[in-house]
Amino acid sequence: MQYGFFDDDAREYVITRPDTPYPWINYLGCEDFFSLFSNTSGGYCFYRDARMLRLTRYRYNNVPADTGGRYFYLRDTSSAGDGDVWTPSWMPMKSKLDRYECRHGMGYSRISSCRNGLAFSQVSFVPLGANCEIHRITLTNESNAEKNIDMFSFVEFCLWNANDDMTNFQRNLSIGEVEVEGSRIYHKTEYRERRNHYAVWAVNAPIEGFDTDRQAFLGLYNGFDSPQAVFKGKANNSTASGWAPIGSHHIKARLATGESKTFVFVLGYCENQEDQKWAKQVSGGNSGVINKTPADTLLKKYSTTEAADKALADLNEYWKNLLNRFTVEADDKRMARMAGVWNQYQCMVTFNMSRSASYFESGIGRGMGFRDSNQDLLGFVHLVPERARLRILDIAATQFPDGSAYHQYQPLTKRGNNDAGTGFNDDPLWLICGVAAFIKETGDYGILNEKVPFNNDEKLADTLFIHLKRSFDYTVTHKGPHGLPLIGRADWNDCLNLNCFSKTPGESFQTTANYESGIAESVLIAAIFAFTGPDYAEICRRTNRIEEAEYAEKEIAAMIDAINKHGWDGEWFLRAYDAYGKKIGSSECDDGKIFIESNGFAVMAGVGIEDGRAFKALDSVKEHLDTKYGIVLQQPAYKEYHLELGEISSYPPGYKENAGIFCHNNPWVTIAETRLGRGTRAFETYTKICPAYREDDSDLRRMEPYVYAQMVAGKDAPRHGEAKNSWLTGTAAWTFVSISQYILGICPVFDGLLIDPCIPSDMKGYSVNRRFRGADYLITVDNSAGVEKGVKSITVDGKALNGTVLPVYGDGKAHEIIVMMG
Ligand code: GLC
Ligand code: GLC
Repeated sequence: MQYGFFDDDAREYVITRPDTPYPWINYLGCEDFFSLFSNTSGGYCFYRDARMLRLTRYRYNNVPADTGGRYFYLRDTSSAGDGDVWTPSWMPMKSKLDRYECRHGMGYSRISSCRNGLAFSQVSFVPLGANCEIHRITLTNESNAEKNIDMFSFVEFCLWNANDDMTNFQRNLSIGEVEVEGSRIYHKTEYRERRNHYAVWAVNAPIEGFDTDRQAFLGLYNGFDSPQAVFKGKANNSTASGWAPIGSHHIKARLATGESKTFVFVLGYCENQEDQKWAKQVSGGNSGVINKTPADTLLKKYSTTEAADKALADLNEYWKNLLNRFTVEADDKRMARMAGVWNQYQCMVTFNMSRSASYFESGIGRGMGFRDSNQDLLGFVHLVPERARLRILDIAATQFPDGSAYHQYQPLTKRGNNDAGTGFNDDPLWLICGVAAFIKETGDYGILNEKVPFNNDEKLADTLFIHLKRSFDYTVTHKGPHGLPLIGRADWNDCLNLNCFSKTPGESFQTTANYESGIAESVLIAAIFAFTGPDYAEICRRTNRIEEAEYAEKEIAAMIDAINKHGWDGEWFLRAYDAYGKKIGSSECDDGKIFIESNGFAVMAGVGIEDGRAFKALDSVKEHLDTKYGIVLQQPAYKEYHLELGEISSYPPGYKENAGIFCHNNPWVTIAETRLGRGTRAFETYTKICPAYREDDSDLRRMEPYVYAQMVAGKDAPRHGEAKNSWLTGTAAWTFVSISQYILGICPVFDGLLIDPCIPSDMKGYSVNRRFRGADYLITVDNSAGVEKGVKSITVDGKALNGTVLPVYGDGKAHEIIVMMG
């Protein structure tokens, strides 16, 4: 069943009933201030760091689901209303609505509803260039009698540190502080001591009253669905002192028939210089009154409906320009809207969030992953190349001088995270992958000369090129008995922990110990080396480092040799050798006989194409791992815990890395299939995990039909086909790479744009507009020949082109490109 539909012209997903199979969310914000926003106005917001600077409270894993957000309660005191109280976003009261719709768009969401003749519209967004959420609320009287409405706003403040906020009650329940001035509620907990920031929750209209104390507003034993102030129709003007500070405005609106009133609510983050924290200094200390200048400036900006509308129009313009860099038109609307809009949108979200804050990531756990961030880059480098450049330099600064890397770093400090440590031996290679993608997109070799610290230590700074060399060399110098790379704590598969041996409940599988057996090897890392190494060699050649290029090529050849000798199992590629030198991912194994990752990546790298093993490997993947909903990670699933394998065997069969459909690596198979020219199969693997193709299957899939999920339950799981962990996943970047570069075949290379489509033979054609190094490429692909791969001719602005690489025009102009397949 469907819970909504795509409005392609508006670039919106329209949810038509509030009780979706899981909260379906959107992300607001694209600079420093971010919000998670569900289809019933649930969620929370933060400034830059979801853990350290969270403005509003959110209770994960709560019952009912998704309670807590920015709520607006309405009470109709006119005679037809008779004191009726409801929440127009459905939650938290689950109010019966005569009409309901939520439109999630690019950086904004719009909830519209109606009850008993009172229409409500809420447009929520984070404007460009300001640190706040705006909620533009309009009430319209659609009935034929006058209406008297009480409206109560509601947010619950988080005491900034989200982790502490949920745990340290002996302190927290005594420290909450607020100030109220007119229609502005200020949350200033801990401002008296070391913080120089506060939050403001304001509305651009006079208020009847307010509440800032949760208990006064709700009643101690009431939930968000029965706030006593609202039912009473009167705020208490309560001032929080400790306990739980909230912000609630009470507004009265009298609406004639047909009349509308609009209110602009702003929830903002404000910061003062250390010496300007207070309204005025008084002798012997401060006044205790916060300096409201930054709040004044912020609120002045959005004090009118027109100003809010202008900010929304600017935001729309920003997204339009961004997404116009890559647009798709095709008969297959589901593919076109995913590749042209939603997949790229999700890539921007992973750029901003990494794996920190979603409805599955609490925002207090993980920082930015070294490997994750480098892979995410593949999905947004064409959209925001300048920001990708800065991101690369940040990531590289957390690398160690020997080429290894902190597995994660903290977004605020940009420092490596000691908890997760180092020793994930695939990490270094992803830096090469990210930098190569950046250079192919931009042609900016200058980035290689940037001085970048090692381990955030300026004294250890060297050029980014040297960082790449250390990455490359790390793999070369960390090999095991078969000449394959040592795995360390894990490779891409965080849960394949071959050196850790954890027996103690609750301890981390990855960091508990690292015996560095010197034996456990990864065929996947070997394949990543074979895939990304040639880019390193090419970068060396193109920057006149010929000897280094030759050395790199020699090492790549040696690695491919090792894969051929020790990484092939007969019908597919092996996955690894464990610390005892036993094979993983071999027909000799009882469970875990065949894995997706090494097969996908080895073929992506071109290993085994010339002698047919690549075909065999992908056929085996299809035979043993494919399902209706995508390709599972391995088979058979591990049925019991294996000390020598680690976390992978800790999951129940069919979930997560233990034979779940781990979507991130499905596109590796898609790309691999295109290398073999099998367009129909490539497209099939693409569509199986693509959410838009499962829109009418939402009761089973449960996650948003407009974004990829990290995992879909595999065939061994009781809930086969059910997705989890939507939004923050490397799936976004890799599927975008697979569809844009390898299926539609518009692939940035060092010299230009390579055109090499690989599509189902019955796909008639499509067009893509692509901005690339300062020019617009308007590409039309014609497949009336009905082939899966092969380019017969290309014309550019009416003239025949030699070869299949579109050169760099860089002339700010649009160029018409016609590609004939055949
Ligand atoms: C998660 C991690 C990623 C890892 C993957 C497989 O998505 O963020 O780093 O590669 O799981 O374990
Ligand atoms: C990855 C995996 C997850 C595992 C985690 C450990 O994110 O997806 O299953 O628990 O890594 O860090």
